Amino acid sequence: MDLACGGGRHSLYLAELGYSVIAVDQDISKIDSIASERITAEQWDLELQTWPLEGRQFEGIVVTNYLYRPHLDQLPQMLSPGGVLIYETFAQGNEAFGKPSNPNFLLKTGELLALAASHSLKIIAYEDIYQASPKPAMLQRICALKAV
Ligand SMILES: C[S@@+](CC[C@H](N)C(=O)[O-])C[C@H]1O[C@@H](n2cnc3c(N)ncnc32)[C@H](O)[C@@H]1O
Repeated sequence: MDLACGGGRHSLYLAELGYSVIAVDQDISKIDSIASERITAEQWDLELQTWPLEGRQFEGIVVTNYLYRPHLDQLPQMLSPGGVLIYETFAQGNEAFGKPSNPNFLLKTGELLALAASHSLKIIAYEDIYQASPKPAMLQRICALKAV
């Protein structure tokens, strides 16, 4: 699943690799145009009190440039055994460089590590970095696995 997929750049990449992808966003107008045999667009508001993907399971979940903290814990719970979570978004400190600057949209120090730990995910890779290009930004990114 490509969560908050936007135009679907990661859905496309994963489809090219041969995966079947569920591409979720509140606005699927852009992803709809690239929907294919391998990419299925689903329109959901991911910030309602009720989690719209309750009970769903995915072998992999990709999230980039999106954070809605109240439902963050849903993501590891939706991984099937052996499933992988790949998450990258802006982190605290990014406000020095521009948007996003709202703390609600910025990961706290260690937040992805804590998410992985609280769901017993095995961390394959993790970074908490300053990235100079394409524009200065503070980012956290993680790749973590659920036990088989
Ligand atoms: C900055 S874009 C990131 C898109 C994509 N992940 C990428 O990195 O190219 C954030 C996405 O979150 C989606 N989004 C924001 N609020 C949402 C909500 N309440 N429910 C579902 N999607 C939402 C937006 O429609 C937008 O496509």
